[in-house]
Amino acid sequence: MASKSEAPEPKSPPGAGKDSSRFKEGPPLYASVSKGSDTDGNGTKQKPFKTVLHCLLSIDIEQCPEIYVDGREKAEWDLISKNAFKNVMKAYRKAKLEAEPKAKPTTALPQKQSDIYIKMDPTLPPAISVKIRGTSKCIGKRIKVQGWVDSKRQQGKNMIFVILRDGSGFLQCLLIGNQCLTPEALALSLESTVSIWGEVGYVKEGQSAPGGLEVVADYWELVGSSPSGGTEAIVNETSKVELQLDQRHLMLRTEPLANTFRLRSGITQCFREHYFAKGYVEVTPPTLVQTQVEGGSTLFKLNYFGQPAYLTQSSQLYLETVIPSLGDVFCISQSYRAEGSHTRRHLSEYTHIEGECPFVTFDELLDSLEDIIVDVAQRVMDSSFGKLLREVNPKFVVPKRPFKRITYADAIKYLREHDIKKDDDTYYEYGEDIPEKPERTMTDQIDSPVMLIRFPVNIKSFYMAKCADNPDETESVDVLLPGVGEVIGGSMRSSKYDELLEGFKREGIDPKPYYWYLDQRKFGTCPHGGYGLGLDRFLTWILGKFHIREVVLYPRLTDRCTP
Ligand code: 4AD
Repeated sequence: MASKSEAPEPKSPPGAGKDSSRFKEGPPLYASVSKGSDTDGNGTKQKPFKTVLHCLLSIDIEQCPEIYVDGREKAEWDLISKNAFKNVMKAYRKAKLEAEPKAKPTTALPQKQSDIYIKMDPTLPPAISVKIRGTSKCIGKRIKVQGWVDSKRQQGKNMIFVILRDGSGFLQCLLIGNQCLTPEALALSLESTVSIWGEVGYVKEGQSAPGGLEVVADYWELVGSSPSGGTEAIVNETSKVELQLDQRHLMLRTEPLANTFRLRSGITQCFREHYFAKGYVEVTPPTLVQTQVEGGSTLFKLNYFGQPAYLTQSSQLYLETVIPSLGDVFCISQSYRAEGSHTRRHLSEYTHIEGECPFVTFDELLDSLEDIIVDVAQRVMDSSFGKLLREVNPKFVVPKRPFKRITYADAIKYLREHDIKKDDDTYYEYGEDIPEKPERTMTDQIDSPVMLIRFPVNIKSFYMAKCADNPDETESVDVLLPGVGEVIGGSMRSSKYDELLEGFKREGIDPKPYYWYLDQRKFGTCPHGGYGLGLDRFLTWILGKFHIREVVLYPRLTDRCTP
């Protein structure tokens, strides 16, 4: 990121201040249109120069003494006015620029070392250090911007158009004259970092540039060079996927990926706003744990100072422990699954948004899941990120409530009726898990969000509450979204101590390490429910991406833990 701190700037031009005290000491200079001469004068009272410009050209500008000009009314001499001095300074700078040594006629190749160097003009006003997003507020002012060379176009020998990128936007910067002929300019490559000083203004009519703005540089510096051709020479959007993933750190500089992560940030913010608007409290549970939540087969095991431990699969159990003191709670935390599944919606590490609510009924829980999808999607569309989302996924529309609610038993029937079969050409039977492929086929056919409810006890986790009207089924739900499939998994929790113990037994889990979780059922139990939403899957859906890895900074997949 470009630093906000300001580099030492040249001092204000002498005399540009409020009074004459800013002139340096030394014999004053005189200029008289009527009595002076720029060829025979020497700047004294007796032999004044004709023009103030000549006075300035005759001295070291850093040591500029007082300058007197023809007096008005009865006075013979007047100290030059602030405005007059400012105008002459402009002419002085132009004259100096023109007087700078010109590049030798170049038979030289661009790579050849140049002996031309540039210096910042110390008489220029101090620059305001800005991010590119702030430049439109600085029209006519001298600014300093810093960033990466996103693109570059040379026009003739003495003009380089640079499109500068700093994460906050893009800005056209124009390097002119000797600024284009220094060794750094001749070797300037894409992705180099630069600092540019100059006045910001609108581009000329008929020309186009990002935001319609342009900085005409009065000085620039190279901060960090980059290999010739920039990152494009190594990887680009047409490269093979594996190369793009190996070079993810370079691909992240491309605009499509930058937009994805801008939206990821904005959408995460909308989730938080949704929860805070409803009075939830955010908590941050640990991810190093000694208990499982979603089955031993997807646990990442590790050695925790000699004790067995895991990377968490879900923060649910910890959320359950804070509802007695905080009420409705949520967390946005990393979860880990040692999944064998090599699909376009599975990650080994993902961002899990989990909520837990005391004293809700199953129907209220289902309503709240519908609400989180619709409300967050609407918030994003209404936010400052809405425009970008519409650009990235023009087809996106906020889904309508209510979502279809289909029982697991009816889903099994649906698969049969629509001839959706297993790989061995047989139908799914009641009691079998519905894997990703058939689930996604069904969701895509229905083409709107679906809530699959009431899964059988035997395919769900130990903590799920049983349905009051059928102890073989659980008060559970998967929310399926078109194009992605399951995005939320939730349930009511077993609130009775004995039912929970039975769940541990059924799953072959030793209840001892769960003493703190079981205590919740001893110290004032309550009906409660919650859910986990995979943020990466939600983003895949809302951004209309094909593969989940597209929305993850550095995806962790079965065969990838780098970079
Ligand atoms: O359905 P799951 O396994 O539910 C739980 O973990 C509950 N304990 C959550 C809770 O009730 N607090 O996972 C919830 C969601 C899934 O619907 C999916 O969106 C996401 O987490 N998810 C994954 N996302 C990417 N890669 C994986 N391997 C995922 N596994 C689950």
